[in-house]
Amino acid sequence: MPDASHSSFRTFDPAREEGAVPPQRSALRDRLRQGGGAAGAAAPAVTDETPAAPFRSYDPATMGPAATQAAPPEDGLRPLSQTELTERAPPRPEAPKPAPAPANRTQPEPEPVSENALHPIGVVLEIAGSGSQIAIDLERLNQCMEDADPSVALAGQVGSQIKIRVGQTWLLASVRNQKQGRTGNSVIANIDFLGEGQEEKLTGKLHGFKRGVTRYPVPGALVFPATTPDLKQVYASDGRDAITIGRVYPTKDIRAGLYVDAMLGKHFALLGSTGTGKSTSAALILHRICEAAPEGHIVMIDPHGEYSAAFRNTGVILDVSNLQMPYWLMNFEEHCEVLLTATGADRNIDADILAKCLLASRAKSRLASTMGKITVDSPIPYLLSDLTNEIQTQMGKLDKSTNTAPYMRIKNKLDEIKADPRYQFMFSGMLVGDTMAEFLCKIFRMPADGRPISIIDVSGVPSDITATVVAVLSRLVFDFAIWGREEKTRPVLLVCEEAHRYVPSEKNADGNSVGKILSRIAKEGRKYGISLGLITQRPSDLAEGVLSQCGTIISMRLNNDRDQAFVKAAMPEGARGFLDSIPALRNRECIICGEGVAIPIRVSFDNLDESRRPASEDPSFVELWSQSGGEEDAVERIVQRWRSQG
Ligand SMILES: Nc1ncnc2c1ncn2[C@@H]1O[C@H](COP(=O)(O)OP(=O)(O)O)[C@@H](O)[C@H]1O
Ligand SMILES: [Mg+2]
Repeated sequence: MPDASHSSFRTFDPAREEGAVPPQRSALRDRLRQGGGAAGAAAPAVTDETPAAPFRSYDPATMGPAATQAAPPEDGLRPLSQTELTERAPPRPEAPKPAPAPANRTQPEPEPVSENALHPIGVVLEIAGSGSQIAIDLERLNQCMEDADPSVALAGQVGSQIKIRVGQTWLLASVRNQKQGRTGNSVIANIDFLGEGQEEKLTGKLHGFKRGVTRYPVPGALVFPATTPDLKQVYASDGRDAITIGRVYPTKDIRAGLYVDAMLGKHFALLGSTGTGKSTSAALILHRICEAAPEGHIVMIDPHGEYSAAFRNTGVILDVSNLQMPYWLMNFEEHCEVLLTATGADRNIDADILAKCLLASRAKSRLASTMGKITVDSPIPYLLSDLTNEIQTQMGKLDKSTNTAPYMRIKNKLDEIKADPRYQFMFSGMLVGDTMAEFLCKIFRMPADGRPISIIDVSGVPSDITATVVAVLSRLVFDFAIWGREEKTRPVLLVCEEAHRYVPSEKNADGNSVGKILSRIAKEGRKYGISLGLITQRPSDLAEGVLSQCGTIISMRLNNDRDQAFVKAAMPEGARGFLDSIPALRNRECIICGEGVAIPIRVSFDNLDESRRPASEDPSFVELWSQSGGEEDAVERIVQRWRSQG
């Protein structure tokens, strides 16, 4: 621990760095020493455990395992009772009131502030726009590394936070990169400003943190490590409703929160290479949202059938056995994707025929007769046999010279689908009733009945129509919101795993309707109260512009350069320091930036209980290959299922 009485800044000569002005060292140190000695009380332990409000704002200082140790009870400063806790002020008061000090106490116990935090680690060299350059003393860097406070220990390193004194305010910045300074015992680093806060008079601690910078430092301003108490203030909820999902890196006990309205209001993306923990993190976030919003409306499209295990108890699982999605909900374009087999010019001919016959079939329904005009897109039930008959009739009207092949192509495809058991979840004769309202209530969880999420497991859907099924579901979300404008319907969150499959970039585009509708939701959805959550391991394969529509980006480790570049382009400027750590993140760690957080944060996700994880566990070859028994029976059962296709 450096002694404050001798210069801990000794080996560092800022005057020798470019553009530096020597700092007023002794005055600053004196002030800091006084501040350190006469520190004020730790902020009162406040809590947000108000049972009435399901979403809650959070105060990292009072949550998590270390919460109870935050303010050691000391003569007369007793821990607050539960009732007192709940009656306390909101979590993040503008100016934290000191705990009521009993008469026999003159000085309340300060929150332990690391000695290292009281001494500068460097100076500002250059200010430029949103970032600037600082010089860090190498010896101070090494001293800090030994510090018990993990955020001081990391101070000055890439991705860490530092604070800069500007008058009575603290500027918080993150370190983007480092290079060797000219003198050999200093390091030059680029930093990005995150925001600013006031200096708490007694402790020198930062409080009242706000995003953005109103006053820049001048070259020569001193740079200090940001401490865990500082970061607690920075990451405390500003009072908006939030869920907490993990711990802010590198601290042991600061809770990381996501502002729900801000995150869902402008869509979000969850990115990361395979195996980094995307699906589990998605489940964690959705679990937290569901807990906070038992009357919510979340639709999750699950291409691998992973999530049913995670949401058995809190959601409704819909797969080919119980989805029962009526074929007549498809619009004309979706009908074409399923029923047309021809390509090129032939496809247009077939499409014209299908349009005519489909409209005629829809018009035959009893429902249509009660309505004014209908179109090929109107979601009105029709009989599959009516469509076949219509095609047959039209074909019969042809004179001999005309080609009947287009009619036969559609009719054959229709017959094939009707007979195929794999298509029964959608093309069954049982689905002809007018179940539209019922179906919408089922997939949108209206009412939610305490199970606000529906997992639509499309893993059993024949692969040639999976994209169309996802398109229909997504379009239903969109159309529902559009036609529900008058009703002020509740917002719906649509979460899409493996999003690059459904909204592919131009290079991989196949012109499917699903890409069009999801892009449209990304662009216009929020106007109608639709929130989109895209999960993908290949952000570079997403359609252009979709990622930049996501207001909040949660990025886990990305191994591929191209993917990293895409994410960087979509992320705001201030997050650059963090972005460089994307390839170096550990599993279950992520960088979050954008609307959902006050400032970009690096988060270690909480451990999710095994029973609530998606079933994406990698198989253990060693374990499974050392067991035996029952193989023949298992193969027999597989063959059975395979043959019966169900
Ligand atoms: N928050 C977490 N809690 C517990 N286990 C996790 C967590 N995040 C990831 N894991 C484990 O890591 C492994 C990979 O996670 P997964 O979500 O399948 O990754 P991805 O979807 O990115 O391929 C899984 O075995 C999962 O159990
Ligand atoms: Mg996954």
